[in-house]
Amino acid sequence: MRISVLGFGTVGRGVYEMICKAKGMEVRKVLVLPAECSESFMVTSIDEITSDKETDVVVECMGGIHPAYEFASSCLKAGKSFVTSNKALVAEYGIELEALAKEKDVSFLFSAACGGAIPVLHNISVASQTDRILRCGGILNGTTNFILTNMQDNGKDYKEALAEAQRLGYAEADPTADVSGMDTMRKVMLLSSVSFSSLPVENLCCEGIENFTKDIADYVKERGLSVRLMGFCGKTAEGIYAYVEPVVVSSSAVEASISSNINFAWYEGENSGFIGLMGQGAGRYPTASAVLRDLSAVMEGKKSMIGPDCVRIKADNGICMNSYLLCIDGVFSAIENISVTDMHKKAKELREKGSKVFFAQYKK
Ligand code: HSE
Repeated sequence: MRISVLGFGTVGRGVYEMICKAKGMEVRKVLVLPAECSESFMVTSIDEITSDKETDVVVECMGGIHPAYEFASSCLKAGKSFVTSNKALVAEYGIELEALAKEKDVSFLFSAACGGAIPVLHNISVASQTDRILRCGGILNGTTNFILTNMQDNGKDYKEALAEAQRLGYAEADPTADVSGMDTMRKVMLLSSVSFSSLPVENLCCEGIENFTKDIADYVKERGLSVRLMGFCGKTAEGIYAYVEPVVVSSSAVEASISSNINFAWYEGENSGFIGLMGQGAGRYPTASAVLRDLSAVMEGKKSMIGPDCVRIKADNGICMNSYLLCIDGVFSAIENISVTDMHKKAKELREKGSKVFFAQYKK
């Protein structure tokens, strides 16, 4: 199989190296910026890839939505299968790209876009053919887990831990998406689209770790607790929920053992029950390994991860009731049995009045 790669950054370079060593795969061309064009296999125009008759599959590792979407569309229209690690692209345009792939009878796979090396989207896409997925989620962002565990276990401050995550290549170019929870939210959107053929785009509740402080780290640690950022989605008789928020876990919970940039992704099938997968959620080779897993799946004839019936929907987070640890201006309290929608709304209202607010779900 002959493959061209879009992007030669952290992930693109890893993909290139792994393809060079893989059996039955060969690199055709790599799209780079003009300033990076230093090798004979590098090109600077997408047309050189879309018009290349020898390219069977295009891998996109550029990140961002534009021009990734335009490039993805032109590759699919040119009859090339398309594999991407770009969660923002799939969360925004996955439905359109799937339709184009179907029209051209080529593959569109994106399992590298959620959980890094962990095959959670891949497994759900297979499991959902024969089992009903009830819910899924987990610790899905390596950067925030790295920051939280460094603050709680090693006494690092927020800025220091974030700078280290950036240096190690875990964080997005703009880490706002990581720390605001948006990166996790996009992964939850992908989990939902693969699990429930429903892409939640409205009424999402997304809280990150920007308000986590050393004092909060000390408070939870003194009580034998620990905070992780987690995403959740599920399908009930009342609707689909999809939200991201910090969660307080006891030191005996499996999530408490997930440190550094490790991710813990899980799903629950009606028949399979709970399945948890842990592994490297970010970084060059873990993400590249997931891209190569998709390339192998393309070789085996796998065409898609989301069904043609996948639609955009409004989430309903009013159907989920949780209890929370709340910290307002340094004063801690607990709130019992409040809906996710109401908790996020309450925090927003308090912040609008000028309070510094942190909240975290008490894990059930
Ligand atoms: N910035 C992301 C993370 C990269 O930290 O998990 C992998 O999606």
